[in-house]
Amino acid sequence: MRLTIKDIQIKKNRGQKITVLTAYDYPMAKMLDESGMDIILVGDSLGMVVLGYDSTVPVTMRDMLHHTKAVSRAVKKSLVVTDLPFGSYDTVERALRNAKRCLKEAGADAVKLEGAFQIQDQLSALIQAGIPVMGHIGLTPQTASSLGGHKVQGKDAESAKKILEEAKLLEKLGVFSVVLECIPRDLAAQITQTIKCPTIGIGAGPDTNGQVLVLHDMLGFEGKVSPKFVKKYVSLEQEIKKAVSAYRDEVLSGKFPL
Ligand code: KIV
Repeated sequence: MRLTIKDIQIKKNRGQKITVLTAYDYPMAKMLDESGMDIILVGDSLGMVVLGYDSTVPVTMRDMLHHTKAVSRAVKKSLVVTDLPFGSYDTVERALRNAKRCLKEAGADAVKLEGAFQIQDQLSALIQAGIPVMGHIGLTPQTASSLGGHKVQGKDAESAKKILEEAKLLEKLGVFSVVLECIPRDLAAQITQTIKCPTIGIGAGPDTNGQVLVLHDMLGFEGKVSPKFVKKYVSLEQEIKKAVSAYRDEVLSGKFPL
């Protein structure tokens, strides 16, 4: 059975860290699930790391549903969260329709939306409809250009206060967790201590309740953007190129097949 949002809250209450990675296809999702990830996020980073776009903006609901279906077929134990892509939740009706499709058609357990005050009607309608929602504040990639690019957010007192207020609003509306992206460590720690639901950090220091990374970044694929906070656990792009070159050489030289 898959983990539930209650299990994720219990982890925070017990002081256990929550592990999150993104996945976009069946084989990767199967490996993450079998390796014990708590949450698998079908992030709209899909657009940049798999579909070759320069940002997450062009990603469509069709893309998200297609990839969530593949992930859902593989996952037995992790909680599956799907990003609602840019433009898919700009009204309450669209948010409800698209979030329901993620759960009913694609097999996600929850959805993630970027923002707080501007989308509070959407968030509250989803949660009242029984759809588990993960929040996402700080650097919100769908609107990164209006935030001045992919930069650390909340560095001055005023913007830090705004992000703290956003976190409190998300908690009040009933999200089950909040992603804190690219904010200073102290601010992430303060939010984590202030709100009861779990915080999941990315570029937000070690004091959040859990951590998330984009799978292709931590596996060592050379992406379009390579954030400083990413730790590469393997250089898979180099390994794959080595294997492909070896195969090519052997076919050209007649060494394979024997
Ligand atoms: O789309 C994504 O992968 C995300 C993570 C960076 C949190 O939103």
